[in-house]
Amino acid sequence: MPTHDLYANDPGGSPWEVPATGAARFSWEYDDGRDRLLALYQKGKDKQWDGRTRIDWDLEVDPYDTLGAPDEMMSLYGTPYWNKLTDKDKGELRRHYASWQFSQFLHGEQGAMICAARIVESVPDLDAKFYSATQVMDEARHAEIYGRFLHEKIGLVYPINDNLQSLLGDTLRDSRWDMPYLGMQVLIEGLALAAFGMIRDTTDKPLPKQILTYVMQDEARHVAFGRMALRDYYKQLTEAELREREEFVIEGCYLMRDRLRGVEVLENFGIPKADAEAFSERSEYLRLFRKLLFSRIVPCVKDIGLWGRRLQQAYADMGVFEMGDSSLDLLMAQDEELAERLDAERFAAEERERAVEVEEAIDSGAAEG
Ligand SMILES: [Fe+2]
Ligand SMILES: [Fe+2]
Repeated sequence: MPTHDLYANDPGGSPWEVPATGAARFSWEYDDGRDRLLALYQKGKDKQWDGRTRIDWDLEVDPYDTLGAPDEMMSLYGTPYWNKLTDKDKGELRRHYASWQFSQFLHGEQGAMICAARIVESVPDLDAKFYSATQVMDEARHAEIYGRFLHEKIGLVYPINDNLQSLLGDTLRDSRWDMPYLGMQVLIEGLALAAFGMIRDTTDKPLPKQILTYVMQDEARHVAFGRMALRDYYKQLTEAELREREEFVIEGCYLMRDRLRGVEVLENFGIPKADAEAFSERSEYLRLFRKLLFSRIVPCVKDIGLWGRRLQQAYADMGVFEMGDSSLDLLMAQDEELAERLDAERFAAEERERAVEVEEAIDSGAAEG
């Protein structure tokens, strides 16, 4: 079915066109790669996988309870609106929220694919072009998988959130080659990764858990790439140039924290925007969720050398300053390990099933004989 028929709201005239600026750069040096970046490129090639076969698409999903989230997670919970909802309405609201969330993942993945392609085009060094080419493929697979999940399992799609779109537009319109890294690899991916992780670690529904676990295995490489490239480059920038990047980060972080809340879902249920915003502000659960969204961005920003006074102040204001001390390496290693463990468990379960089948076949053979 065309996605157009599944949109909760009209996504507007398509396609969205962002004029390209900046140069496409060729490098004639083919034998001067940085070892760590080339090792990451090799890993990117080795770890390719196919969502059609690695994910168990036969697993059933209840679209009215996609993630098994408790009522407290809904921003309407405990308000007069909530008390008026029937169980059927609540199921429908859950479906819309899940759709909104996974739709933002889907549009973000398409954005990541386009930004990675832009990096291939504009980054000066060939080793970074090589690596980023593997990321283009990773992001294509992610978009394919989220798209399939929305089409087949939820049956409802939301347009891209206005603020996510504007951050994406700012990232792509900038002619400086490091900006797709900063806007996409650090900010948008950092935010997405934290959201993926929170869902992966709390949902008891097997299909979304599988999808998020495997996607996060790839994202661990993407973050490593962004850090490597920017850490090297930002050492060469002047104070003024670094401050410009910090301003971009501060603005992007506030925008994502305050404006990426799924208010458009509640509006579809007839709740005025101001009320919807107030509810998500008041919800204890969502406050924690918003804070945790920064768990991947803050340590990354600090690590690449953007840790000026204004940025520190902004993070203190958001209550996420201390996250700068958490270890990204540890988080990424865990992401990779969880995916490998899930594969091992599923593989072991399949082996057991096969063993039982063989035993049964032998038993029935013995009985007949
Ligand atoms: Fe991705
Ligand atoms: Fe990514």
